[in-house]
Amino acid sequence: MAIDYRERIPNNVDLSGNRRLQRALESWQPNYLRWWDELGPADTQRDDVYLRTAISVESDGWANFGYVKMPDYRWGIFLSKPQAGRTISFGEHKGEPVWQEVPGEYRSALRRLIVTQGDTEPASVEQQRHLGQTCPSLYDLRNLFQINVEEGRHLWAMVYLLHAYFGRDGRGEADEMQERHSGDPDRPRILGAFNEPTPHWLSYLMFTYFTDRDGKYQLASLAESGFDPLARTCQFMLTEEAHHMFVGETGIMRVLQRTCEVMDELHTDDPERLRAAGVIDVPTLQRFLNLGA
Ligand SMILES: [Fe+2]
Ligand SMILES: [Fe+2]
Repeated sequence: MAIDYRERIPNNVDLSGNRRLQRALESWQPNYLRWWDELGPADTQRDDVYLRTAISVESDGWANFGYVKMPDYRWGIFLSKPQAGRTISFGEHKGEPVWQEVPGEYRSALRRLIVTQGDTEPASVEQQRHLGQTCPSLYDLRNLFQINVEEGRHLWAMVYLLHAYFGRDGRGEADEMQERHSGDPDRPRILGAFNEPTPHWLSYLMFTYFTDRDGKYQLASLAESGFDPLARTCQFMLTEEAHHMFVGETGIMRVLQRTCEVMDELHTDDPERLRAAGVIDVPTLQRFLNLGA
């Protein structure tokens, strides 16, 4: 299950053994890179960023740190190891062996699920495009970029499934994911939450707290899918999702902590005075919390 980094698209799915698939994905790649350039993190093309890149799906390989220029990040296709003898855990087909190919009767439902999941990944990168320019600290900036490159890889994961298992329809869907954009009036992203602007860090922290949590449950259920390639893809994605929620949770904790400290220092809960002192007052935090929840 080692990841082959000599390939143009790093992968552990023996992509070079399937020339047609490899060529199709390699022709999708330049558009992906153009998208990253145009709608990914703004003005970061030349910066060295300290990032985690997976070099294998084993526990010692998924977190490999180093400086990379983000457009050179090695986005690739990584599936968790297959589990021998895995059977379907729920529903009508409970107990039957998991599917290695898409069963005809579930083809359109599965395609819809994968497209909807895939569409959210680049959408969040688009929503967060300008946040690097107002980051509260280098620590926050690194976390933001780490999440951005991982959401980019999650898109790759879904595009791989579409290309590998859904034929011409799948390729068409993969192309459409490059045509829709967050907040685009004509071609918006599929889910409403991914068309909302994320203009500042409080909305970003709420997003990683709530929306990534929603994403985690979504992925956790897809990781149980009877369609084995989808399950294995999502199992690996979940290792990264934990960090996204950590960013949201600890971020909100830090904001709230500082608010409480200043309330204590000034002996007030007056929003005006607290804002003047440079912290976010509790009613404002509550409003964002309500919006996110
Ligand atoms: Fe994701
Ligand atoms: Fe995420």
